[in-house]
Amino acid sequence: MKKQLIEHSLPSLKDAAKRSKEQTKIVVEDLKPSSRLLEYAKNKRYFVRTYGCQANVVDSEMIEGILQELGFIPCDDPIKSDLVILNTCAIRENAEDKVFGEVGSLKRLKDQNKEALIGLCGCMVQQTHIVEKVKQSYPQVDLIFGTHNIYRLPILLDEAIFSERRIIEIYSKEGEVIEGVPLVREDKIKAFVNIMYGCDKFCTYCIVPYTRGKQRSRRVSDILVECQELVRQGYQEITLLGQNVNAYGKDLDENLSFASLLEAVAKTGIPRLRFTTSHPWDFTREMFDVIAKYDNVMPCIHLPLQSGSDDVLRRMGRRYTSAEYKALVDELKKMIPDIALTTDIIVGFPNETDDDFEKTLEMVHYCHYDSAFTFIYSPRIGTPGAKMKDETPFEVKKARFERLVKAVEEEASKRALRYVGNVYDVLVEGSSKKKDDILSGYTETLKLVNFKGSQDLIGKIVKVKILESHTFSLIGEVAENG
Ligand code: 5AD
Ligand code: SF4
Repeated sequence: MKKQLIEHSLPSLKDAAKRSKEQTKIVVEDLKPSSRLLEYAKNKRYFVRTYGCQANVVDSEMIEGILQELGFIPCDDPIKSDLVILNTCAIRENAEDKVFGEVGSLKRLKDQNKEALIGLCGCMVQQTHIVEKVKQSYPQVDLIFGTHNIYRLPILLDEAIFSERRIIEIYSKEGEVIEGVPLVREDKIKAFVNIMYGCDKFCTYCIVPYTRGKQRSRRVSDILVECQELVRQGYQEITLLGQNVNAYGKDLDENLSFASLLEAVAKTGIPRLRFTTSHPWDFTREMFDVIAKYDNVMPCIHLPLQSGSDDVLRRMGRRYTSAEYKALVDELKKMIPDIALTTDIIVGFPNETDDDFEKTLEMVHYCHYDSAFTFIYSPRIGTPGAKMKDETPFEVKKARFERLVKAVEEEASKRALRYVGNVYDVLVEGSSKKKDDILSGYTETLKLVNFKGSQDLIGKIVKVKILESHTFSLIGEVAENG
């Protein structure tokens, strides 16, 4: 029999697009789980699958934090679990297709264990058409909750389990900052720390400002407490996370800049500090100074280009020209000579011409990126881009994409050559699955290095001499005792 539905709230892209001038509200979460839920969760197993970006990784760490506090225990096989949660991504259509594939295959879980629950959360379910599709065609999903609703999981789970109905709760409000949600980190060496949520840029191709709401910053004090605790626990690396970290603090009355936050976190003494993502538009002089001044701020910047054509950039709503982007890159390289630059590039934005695309290639060769994430444009329902007419056939986009990948690889290979013969600090993260004496780690510039060494080097920063370079990785040997 089909379960009945309880719809607390459904998503609305229109509401999600609203932005008020109000300052960010900080709410400290204090939801008490019911005793029947605590009783139920004892020895029940859960599995969380994370799709998409690092923001989702942190959200999943919160989901796991909540579940473990309730008494659920982690399980690495969805089919053997009592609760499966898929934390989804909406950035491109292929990300959504993967999720539907997995939801389909989870029917098997229900056949085996009628009591098992399946939950769907994350960016995908912030979209009306997706929720409608799940409601109609995927009855195996018991609980759907949005990116703003994670902290309410104890309430929603209680209802889904004991009412035996399908529960949907998706807020499309601008959003607040919720503090105090427990979090379990899977990685013991590197940690992601959210410094802000949402995005106000509304680039015309992007669904993120709708799925994640208004740009809102966490208080410096909350961020510092979290980072200090990570240092105390022996973490070697922190990455400060936000859709556009350079805009940090603009929504707080303290009027703090990202540069001052970066400096404060650098002073905690964390061995390695990174941040992502930077929008070229908000990059300040003050930031250059902090990156150059502190040795523990890694010389590695992710600076999404998206396109090298001024016309396409304008239609994307990116707020910079290719000349401005080049000037920023020139200055970064002047201030921090060994800096590694990475980027995101989209090909096939509506009506991108051959000439536009050539300008993107030109830019790849000008900036000498160390690596780049490359994408074929995927129209997202509700964004301005999706309403633009597009005459370019898919085969043309595909051919451009292949040329772009080649250009990126060519530049990355050339850049990788500079490492050969030199010694670098490598943070060792683990060993090869096949050979446990082959270790892998990253340089300060985020280049992957494989080398021979003993397992006790994992979690340490080791000097490694580079012997060989490949496009996206290096091979080396320990230069001195780690
Ligand atoms: N189609 C293709 N790529 C996209 N990105 C964002 N939205 C889309 C889209 N609709 C890319 C951008 C962004 C990265 C995270 O994903 O390059 O920087
Ligand atoms: Fe999307 Fe642009 Fe915001 Fe990045 S800055 S999340 S691309 S809208």
